[in-house]
Amino acid sequence: MNLRLATVDDAIGMQACNLQNLPENYTMKYYLYHLLTWPSLSYVAEEGGRIVGYILAKMEEDVGEDDEPHGHVTSISVLRSYRRLGLAKKLMVQSQEAMATIYRASYVSLHVRKSNRAALGLYKDSLGFEVSDVEKKYYADGEDAYAMRLSLKN
Ligand code: ACO
Repeated sequence: MNLRLATVDDAIGMQACNLQNLPENYTMKYYLYHLLTWPSLSYVAEEGGRIVGYILAKMEEDVGEDDEPHGHVTSISVLRSYRRLGLAKKLMVQSQEAMATIYRASYVSLHVRKSNRAALGLYKDSLGFEVSDVEKKYYADGEDAYAMRLSLKN
């Protein structure tokens, strides 16, 4: 298993992995936008040339006057047969470290479905994220999202 920084050559493999794992999908242009604009924030887990997990991340662009620079996880997923091996946690930690050291991010944010037990276990129990807000009907099917945050300050 090779865990490494994602490059533009990985965009197709990342999109394929995303399509298998999540109903929230993105255009190729959006993958490339992430990879070209914040080239140190997205990572992949690769085995035998196949992308089996990825994190697609960025710095938040709509930062208000009172808000500090912060990172945002657009999407993370791991193929079913590679789950519970610690891959997602490693992908998250790598990206968080880059957000903090390269972009001086003071925290990282993300959205997650209220019903997503596995992801909530990862964010809350394993990484220490906290719920900062509930966004009603955030998802296309009407489900609410938890907006979550993790401080990156020591
Ligand atoms: N139930 C409860 N807790 C879990 C689960 C689960 N099914 N899976 C992971 N966790 C928690 C545990 O605390 C785990 O530590 P442990 O194994 O020592 O108990 C910890 O998270 C780390 O688990 P990893 O092995 O690193 O997680 P994994 O590689 O399996 O990936 C993920 C987790 C990404 C949520 C995976 O289940 C997945 O791809 N799901 C479908 C896609 C998805 O829901 N992505 C997140 C959407 S939100 C967003 O993208 C911002």
